[in-house]
Amino acid sequence: MSNINLDITTRKEYPIEVGKGLGNTVSAWLGEHYSTDSVFVVIDENVNNLHRERLEKWCQPQFKHVYYIEIPEGERSKSIQQWKEVADEILSIGVERSTPLMAVGGGVTGDLGGFVASTVLRGLPLIHVPTTLLAMVDSSIGGKTGINHNTGKNLIGAFYQPDAVFADVHFLDTLDDKEWVTGIAEILKYGAIRNPDLFKDFESLVNKSFTANEQWVSVIAESAGIKADIVQEDALESGIRAYLNFGHTFGHALEKVAGYGTITHGEAVFVGMLAACNFSAQLGHSVDITPFKSFLPLYQRQMSPLPDDVDELIEAMKSDKKVKNNMLRLVLLNSWASPYVHDCTDYSALREAWEFALSQFNKSI
Ligand SMILES: NC(=O)c1ccc[n+]([C@@H]2O[C@H](COP(=O)([O-])OP(=O)(O)OC[C@H]3O[C@@H](n4cnc5c(N)ncnc54)[C@H](O)[C@@H]3O)[C@@H](O)[C@H]2O)c1
Repeated sequence: MSNINLDITTRKEYPIEVGKGLGNTVSAWLGEHYSTDSVFVVIDENVNNLHRERLEKWCQPQFKHVYYIEIPEGERSKSIQQWKEVADEILSIGVERSTPLMAVGGGVTGDLGGFVASTVLRGLPLIHVPTTLLAMVDSSIGGKTGINHNTGKNLIGAFYQPDAVFADVHFLDTLDDKEWVTGIAEILKYGAIRNPDLFKDFESLVNKSFTANEQWVSVIAESAGIKADIVQEDALESGIRAYLNFGHTFGHALEKVAGYGTITHGEAVFVGMLAACNFSAQLGHSVDITPFKSFLPLYQRQMSPLPDDVDELIEAMKSDKKVKNNMLRLVLLNSWASPYVHDCTDYSALREAWEFALSQFNKSI
């Protein structure tokens, strides 16, 4: 009998550039890192209409062939069918293992494009160019890629790290307010679990119309840095990466019960964070929602009416893919910047947390 131990540890270092006008940086970086003639640019249809010229300037100097593969906007593109269409196109055009794939768009394009990159020829070099606030501060960092299955969201996918992330806030000039507000929820999450100064840093930015100025650059860079720090410590989500789910177990349930697409992921996470703060306070922790107060009107203004059947919401939480051994695990706060994982057994407290959060939006509750 022989006993062989295989020890493969792969760590990857990559740059995350956040700035305004990154064209020269990106072009130079592409030139230094790739020697292929071609690049595949998997791009969201809206971004393709609004920003194609920018992408051409970034890519044309470095590559003889730039193949743009446009995908329909929205969550429906995170499907097996869309994965197949993009993979078919790349393979029919012809691709080598060293041909890079650039995913340009929001979280949908990043997740789909990243999953295509991870699977075609068992892995193509991947560059993320996030174009929504949410993608800049969250989904482009950390290597989670994937698509949805008809039994649930993000159920097919891979951890696959990019070679680089380039977040140019110029893209945000064309972003709808609704998408800004969606992204803000993830920034508030970083404030809650790591750095409550963030609340103050951008409180003033949300009272005006959204403009991607230098202050936003620093808020995005700070947020992206927090995500990078956490992911760096726990790339495969076996420990502290779970803290990034603050508000999310509630949020996912809300998205599911409301019907996907009725409210955005960020809106649902915001409501979920209010519930998680309330639950923490019920357990005696010193957490109240005061820092969230100035952001509440943004969400109250734009959200569709929320479901109010708390039993249904709790059932939906129990079916979350992160539930282990039937135990509902929630990320709560000991205090601001001090998250922990709580095994929930007290369903009356959970119910009260939901009622509190929903009552901020549905006045009848
Ligand atoms: N991989 C991860 O770690 C991770 C983390 C969080 C969320 N996600 C995923 O991210 C997705 C949500 O991402 P999202 O909120 O960016 O949604 P999205 O990609 O659907 O983009 C939202 C909308 O903004 C448009 N858009 C994108 N950039 C634009 C721009 N610069 N100007 C104008 N319009 C623009 C898109 O066409 C779309 O209509 C979900 O599928 C979620 O599961 C992934």
